[in-house]
Amino acid sequence: MDAAFQDALKQAATINVPTAHPRLPGPFGAEPIIRTRSLGKSYPKGPAVFAGVHLDIRADQRVALIGSNGAGKSTLLKCLIGLLPSSEGEIMTLGESFHAAPTAAQLQRLRRQIGFVFQNHGLVSRQSVLTNVIQGKLGLPGSWRAWHQSLADQAWREEAMQVLAEVRLADKARARADELSGGQAQRVAIARALIRKPRLLIADEPAASLDPAVGRDIMQIFSDLAREHGITLVYTTHDMQHALDYSDRIIALKAGKVFFDAPTGDVSLRDMDGVFHA
Ligand SMILES: Nc1ncnc2c1ncn2[C@@H]1O[C@H](COP(=O)(O)OP(=O)(O)OP(=O)(O)O)[C@@H](O)[C@H]1O
Ligand SMILES: [Mg+2]
Repeated sequence: MDAAFQDALKQAATINVPTAHPRLPGPFGAEPIIRTRSLGKSYPKGPAVFAGVHLDIRADQRVALIGSNGAGKSTLLKCLIGLLPSSEGEIMTLGESFHAAPTAAQLQRLRRQIGFVFQNHGLVSRQSVLTNVIQGKLGLPGSWRAWHQSLADQAWREEAMQVLAEVRLADKARARADELSGGQAQRVAIARALIRKPRLLIADEPAASLDPAVGRDIMQIFSDLAREHGITLVYTTHDMQHALDYSDRIIALKAGKVFFDAPTGDVSLRDMDGVFHA
């Protein structure tokens, strides 16, 4: 995770004004969770990373975002959730509409409804697994108590144990985060995202650097959680089999555009090959 992104996360985590979660109208499953129109992004002094991106992601979908190194996947994820300003176009995420960047209040509301999981999981290595999971509550009302499990009330500790059980790690609650294997650490990161009860789960290469069996295990956990809890899952991956096996829809970025955006059942390996070759 780059320093600017970490700063944005920290900043978002420290804003704490209690307001109700906005809910979109309409039957669950049909409402748009993310919509973009003519979305474009350039970094200062750089060429456009992408332009003219139109997306409509509906609730309950598991979406895999694929593309070569540097295609703009991580940049797009960050723009969608307001952690990076876009350069042109419009974004609507979880009912919050914005150009460029959300307001501080919008960012706070977005953050309350979104869980993040990244490749380097970002756990606090000297803290216990339980504390790391409870810290997933930071940014939610009353969240100053989430700094350490000893400050958290019993209900939060119970919630943390529940989500640890969901990722099959309840037996490691008292272990220090730096005593975990990569796959276990990634499962703690998922539990930490889950304790927020997110409507949207964003994961940037969650299975990278894990061995094939553990990588599939992590993707299966994501997939099951998304289905069981009705969470919309948007993740990036370089593993085409993961994209095929654990998504309802695949979006491919190539040369600054959406190369294809299709139900997973309609995507062939040949289509995927085209994403990575001229
Ligand atoms: N903070 C930054 N400042 C300037 N340019 C950046 C910054 N972050 C990314 N870029 C550039 O934007 C482009 C897209 O990068 P991004 O990290 O979004 O790609 P990606 O598809 O996630 O790649 P990967 O598969 O390697 O993770 C690249 O050309 C990259 O060099
Ligand atoms: Mg990336």
